[in-house]
Amino acid sequence: MKINIAIDGPSAAGKSTIARKLAEKMHYVHLDTGAMYRCTGMKAKKTGIDLEDEKALCAMLQKTQILLTPEGKVFLDGEDVTSLIRTDEISLAASAVSKHPEVRKDLVARQQQMAKAGGFIMDGRDIGTVVLPDAQVKVFMTASAAARAKRRYDQNIASGIPSESLEEITKEIEQRDYQDTHRSASPLTQATGAVVIDTSDMTIQQVCDAIWALAQPFVIKEEE
Ligand code: DC
Repeated sequence: MKINIAIDGPSAAGKSTIARKLAEKMHYVHLDTGAMYRCTGMKAKKTGIDLEDEKALCAMLQKTQILLTPEGKVFLDGEDVTSLIRTDEISLAASAVSKHPEVRKDLVARQQQMAKAGGFIMDGRDIGTVVLPDAQVKVFMTASAAARAKRRYDQNIASGIPSESLEEITKEIEQRDYQDTHRSASPLTQATGAVVIDTSDMTIQQVCDAIWALAQPFVIKEEE
C-alpha cells in the first residue's frame, strides 16, 4: 500500500508548490487542505454568513460540495474556483472559519476519508497532528515571514492576481500566523515525529529532494 505524507507549516511557506511537485514525481495525489477552508470562507462570504457563526457555517457545509481534482483544480458546488479562492480577502476568511472546531471536524472527516487509500501528499496546518497522525512521513515546513511575503508577492504578480504591496502582504501573513497558531482548535504546531525544514534559503528542488529522501525508504518497501 502507498504511504501518506503530511506537510504542515505556516502560510506561504511553499507547502503546496512542493507537495504538487513531489506528488508528480512519486505518482501520488496532492491534497491541498487549505483550499477546503478557502472554499468554506468564500461560500460564507458569498451567501452572507457571518464568519463567526459556527452553527450557520456547519449547516452551510452540510449542503456544500468541495471537489479537489488530482490535477489541482478546486470545484465549489460544481463551480471552478481554483484561482478565485487565492485572493487576500479569501485568505483571511479561510483563516477566520478555520478556528471553529465544528467546521474543522467536518473538513477533517472529508480529508481522512479521501486519504484512506494511501498515496496522498496532504498539506495544511493539522495534517501530522490531527488528520493523519499515523502518516509515515511528517514534515513541518517553515520560512521567515519576509521570505514568505516576498514569494506570495512574486506569485501574485506572476499569475496576474491583483496584489497588495509587499508590506501589506507581510502584515497579512503575520496576522494569519498569529490567528493560526493562537486558535484553541488544532492550532498550528509541529507534530510529534515531524522533520522541520526551513525553506527560507532553499530552492524548490532542494526542498523536494529533502522530503524525497525521507520518503524513499518507505517507497522502496512499497515496491518490494
Ligand atoms: O494553506 P492555505 O494558506 O491555503 O490555508 C488557508 C487557511 O486555512 C489558513 O489560514 C489556515 C487554514 N487551514 C487550517 O486551519 N488547516 C488546514 N489543514 C489548512 C488550512
